[in-house]
Order: sequence, then C-alpha cells, then structure tokens
Amino acid sequence: MAPVAASRGVVSARPCPAASARPPMGFMVSRTARTCGFAAQTRSTRAPVRGSRVVAEANKVALLGAAGGIGQPLALLLKLNEQISELRLYDIANVKGVAADLSHINTNAQVSGHTGAEALGEALKGAELVIIPAGVPRKPGMTRDDLFNINAGIVRTLIEGVAKHCPEAIVAIISNPVNSTVPIAAETLKKAGVYDRRKVLGVTTLDVVRAETFVAENKGLDVREVSVPVVGGHAGETILPLLSQAEPKVEFDDATAAALTERIQNAGTEVVEAKAGAGSATLSMAYAAARFAESVLAALAGEKNVVECTFVESDIQPGFQYFSSKVVLGPNGVEEILPLGELNASEKEGLDKMSALLTKNIETGIAFANKA
Ligand SMILES: NC(=O)c1ccc[n+]([C@@H]2O[C@H](COP(=O)([O-])OP(=O)(O)OC[C@H]3O[C@@H](n4cnc5c(N)ncnc54)[C@H](O)[C@@H]3O)[C@@H](O)[C@H]2O)c1
Repeated sequence: MAPVAASRGVVSARPCPAASARPPMGFMVSRTARTCGFAAQTRSTRAPVRGSRVVAEANKVALLGAAGGIGQPLALLLKLNEQISELRLYDIANVKGVAADLSHINTNAQVSGHTGAEALGEALKGAELVIIPAGVPRKPGMTRDDLFNINAGIVRTLIEGVAKHCPEAIVAIISNPVNSTVPIAAETLKKAGVYDRRKVLGVTTLDVVRAETFVAENKGLDVREVSVPVVGGHAGETILPLLSQAEPKVEFDDATAAALTERIQNAGTEVVEAKAGAGSATLSMAYAAARFAESVLAALAGEKNVVECTFVESDIQPGFQYFSSKVVLGPNGVEEILPLGELNASEKEGLDKMSALLTKNIETGIAFANKA
C-alpha cells in the first residue's frame, strides 16, 4: 500500500470488490447503481436530479480545449452528467457556438463558453474539477512523444491558470503525452507553491476501456461485467494491461495474451491510421474521460470505494516517480494508491520493458517544466 497523504484518513489496502453488472455510465442510466472501473457502487445515498427530485451535488467543471475532437463530445457527455451544476467550456478557438448549442439541452448543468487567453480566469474561477484535452492530436506516423513540444507548452500555460484561479481543483489531464504532461503539471504547480499530489491525475481510462472491450470480445463475455486494470504509463509499451487480474477471471494462452496486450498498447495507433490524418481517438476518449469525471465527482461528493486507474505521482513502483495504477478516489482526489497485486511472468517482463521509456518520458516532462 502507498498512502498518498498521511494526514488524511487513509483506508487500508483491500482487494476491490468484484465488478457486478455495469451500467454504461451513471448519467446514461437510472442512477441507482454504477461501477467506477473496478468497484461496484450503489448510489442509494446520492439523490438523483430529474424532475422535482433534489440535486445532491453542485460541481463546477472547467473543460479546457472544449471545441476540439475530444472536447465537443466530452462536453456533451458532461452536460448529461447531473452531478455538474456549471460547465465552463474554454478554448482558444471558437467555443461559443459549442456552448450555445449545448445550452439548449434540458439538463441541469449551466453551460458557458470562454474564448482566448484573457478568458481563462473566468472559466477556471472556483472550478472543482478541471479537465484538459487541449492540444494537438497525433497524425499517422507520429508517436505521442512527437506531440511533446506543442502540447507541453499548452499544458504548462493552462496549469499556470489553474494555480492562479483554482489551486484547490482536481485536474484531469488528457493531453498527450500523458507520461510527460502530468509531470509538467505537477512541476508547474510546485513552482507556484500550490501542488497537492492527490489532485493531479493523468487520464488513462481509455486504456482500461479498450482492455475491457477487447477481453470481453475475445471471451464472448458481457462487456459490462468485465474489468481489467491497466498500469504503468500511457504510451506504447508503458501501457501494461494486467490480464491475469481481469474480472471475471479469464485464462489466455501465452500467444493470445501477448496479442491482446499488443493490441491494447497500439489501439490508439489503430484509430490514428483508420482516421488517416483526421486525428486520433475522440469519441472513445470522450466516453472514457466522462466515465473518469463521473468517478472523480462521485468521490468529491463523498461516495466511498470509488476506484479508477490513473497516472499520478506515486511510490507504488520503485524507480518511477509517476505511475498509473488503481487508486481509491476521495473528496481530495487520490486517497489511496492500491498495490499492483500479483503479476504473472509476462506482466513482470512488461514492467521491466517499460522502464527505460517511462523514465525518459517522466524526466522529459520534469526538465521541460523546470527550464527557464
Ligand atoms: N489521454 C488519452 O487517452 C488521449 C486519447 C486521445 C487523444 N488524447 C490527446 O488529447 C488531445 C486533444 O485531442 P483532440 O483530438 O481533441 O485534438 P483537437 O485538435 O481536435 O482539439 C484540441 C483542441 O484544443 C484547443 N487548444 C489548443 N491550444 C489550446 C490552448 N492553449 N488553450 C485551450 N485550448 C487549446 C484547440 O483549439 C482544439 O479545439 C491531444 O493531445 C491528443 O493526443 C489523449
């Protein structure tokens, strides 16, 4: 176990409850039960919103890069999330039209659009959750690292805004390369003197979503019942699905496990190539980020045992300052980092193989943030 903050009531390490039938998303189904990645949840204590029912939470969410390929469908999914009272959409490009369009949907969240650097403050002020998909996506032939030079600067600028206008917010970073942009965000917040390691979260949920989909397809299972932890990082061989820990328990021969692992690691490239120059994963990413946001907001509202995989500053794996693994989310972000559990031989090999790349990605991010 790696407690994140000794001052908080850190709960003891425990195995996650097995996932039971998983409705697709809390906001898409009646909000009576949901699973946050790995832990089945019952929302009996959380009042849903529709009609005359009571709104139990009021959360302000800022989405930075809201007019983009991920930003727009993610904004739509967030508009359907009844945990959100205010949805601030920010982009350097025209986001007013996206905001006007969404504002006609008869759900609770009040939508506003904010364009240009001078409007960043009004978008961020008082936000409890900031989600960042701003940046450029991959084109065929590019790796996530190729994006580094452009996206690194964008993330640093936006995080400087977070430090100034909503230093207490939980920040969920989608912009790639996540292995570097999360360290950049952390270092930028440290420089501003407002860093809280529990609150800077790299969104790796798409790797989990893909792993669950591919495992379910391979085994002919109901995808809503499958959960697969994915650990390490969020680029190529740093993405390590722990198929041996899939629930329900499934067996694969070595060749199938290797092929599935490789497909999960390269699924982003599958989409980049299929889109043939028109960008990278947007719709599945929007779904994954909406699921992650829902979990963060549920935990903010006091829900217990909310578990997701996320790339965070972590002590869980010696040698890596940042690592993605299952964490328990709470009202202040990451409440507890869960142990990796037993790995089989090929998973241990995968852990060794990612070492050089993940270390380099992390160091590149830290160096970028600290250069004059
Ligand atoms: N974490 C993941 O699993 C994952 C998956 C897919 C894509 N991504 C990454 O998400 C990012 C966005 O992808 P996309 O397909 O939506 O790209 P996109 O180009 O369609 O949209 C990006 C948006 O960001 C905006 N933007 C650029 N600079 C900005 C700034 N300084 N402030 C605010 N907004 C700014 C652009 O105007 C645009 O609307 C990329 O970095 C991509 O690699 C991450």
